[in-house]
Amino acid sequence: MKNYSEDVFVWVEETHSVGKEEFDNHHKVIFDLINEMQAHQNQEQFKLEFRDLITRSIDYFNFHLKKEQEWLAEVNYPDYEEHCELHKQYILGISKFFLDFTQNKTPDISKFIQFQKQWWTDHICNEDMKYKSYAQ
Ligand SMILES: [Fe+2]
Ligand SMILES: [Fe+2]
Repeated sequence: MKNYSEDVFVWVEETHSVGKEEFDNHHKVIFDLINEMQAHQNQEQFKLEFRDLITRSIDYFNFHLKKEQEWLAEVNYPDYEEHCELHKQYILGISKFFLDFTQNKTPDISKFIQFQKQWWTDHICNEDMKYKSYAQ
């Protein structure tokens, strides 16, 4: 597993473009949100605001995954069910993290950010990329 450490998450056309501008733009926003989390994760005062950022991010992640699923259904993407299942598992995973937050447990923020980077990179490069030919 690649260690993304404190690298800023940069969207690169050749590596990340899925051939559909709408979703490329979503993915860029997602990268920005993750960078925002990372940039502030060690600031004491930020811990209070982190919950808002997480809420905002999860809302946006959900928005994107839903839009993608709607479009995959529209184009009769053959692996629609499998793709939706990957999204679902991801949302379940981060919901658990968020629940810890709301129950005043102290989840490992750094681990959470590393997971976001890992998941989104793998998902975009390996899974979203599979629908590229349907986008053109
Ligand atoms: Fe996806
Ligand atoms: Fe995506």
